[in-house]
Amino acid sequence: MKTKEGMDQKGLARRRMLITTGAVAAGAALTQLGGWLNSAEAKGGSTEKWPWPYEKLDPAKTAEIAYNEWYRVFCGAAVISSVFSQLREKVGEPYKSFPADAFVFLEGGQVGWGTICGSPAGANIVANLIIGPRIAGAHEGHQIAADIMQWYSEAKMPVFAPAVAKQPTKIVTTVSDSPLCHLSVGKWMKASGYELASPERKDRCARVAASTAYHLVELLNDWKDGKYESSSDFTCAKEFGLTGQYNCNECHGDKVPAPPKGKGKGA
Ligand code: HEC
Repeated sequence: MKTKEGMDQKGLARRRMLITTGAVAAGAALTQLGGWLNSAEAKGGSTEKWPWPYEKLDPAKTAEIAYNEWYRVFCGAAVISSVFSQLREKVGEPYKSFPADAFVFLEGGQVGWGTICGSPAGANIVANLIIGPRIAGAHEGHQIAADIMQWYSEAKMPVFAPAVAKQPTKIVTTVSDSPLCHLSVGKWMKASGYELASPERKDRCARVAASTAYHLVELLNDWKDGKYESSSDFTCAKEFGLTGQYNCNECHGDKVPAPPKGKGKGA
């Protein structure tokens, strides 16, 4: 396994190269990474030059935008809009053409199904659009997404309080121990006693979107400065042989089923 330092240095060296020598060299670098990347490049769509131009943003300002945008487009699209609306002004394209409002469907853990909370989903979309997918050679987008998932699961949410709150009632904080909307919202509702349709629950989720946007911008700013270091330490698939979250016992009790092993190993 590569060390964290090794990976970071490689990532940094590569990013500097992309920034200084531009798109032509970036294309050449991608080609050097191996033949399979060429097909990924050809099939992936029109915007394949990474990283997208990024200028450092103010985390608190971004969080305020996300908080207010929640009341228009809800969690996932609010996080995307909080970053991209500013980059639209500061940078222009490709942010100007990016339809952030289409991501309203991330609300309620995707159209109300309580799967991944829209806030980390939106943050991970932003990080991977700006930095690029790991199959294009830079790993920081993937790593930031892993950091966001773990941070979100472990944080006392909401972390961020807006300057002018739409809901003056004190908002209690809870740890979700999961990036799932269902668990995150459910545990908060249990602790606070407020129902799903209450203004307090809505404000809590707006603040969760704001908290996530804040942390995302901290990570992106570090990446821009070349000092980003991945902090997450969990890869469920490697450790347990199944994708998932770290706290198996919370759902399975002390009888955690073991995934099958040894039949039909993948490449
Ligand atoms: C958020 C709740 C939750 C967490 C956390 C969770 N699981 Fe599950 N898991 C389920 C549910 C629900 C099922 C399907 C019902 C069942 O069979 O228990 C399932 C099914 C499985 C299965 C399929 C086989 C079977 O008996 O159903 C395996 C294997 C498994 N889980 C392993 C794990 C491991 C290992 C972890 C921790 C790394 C984990 N799970 C964490 C909820 C969870």
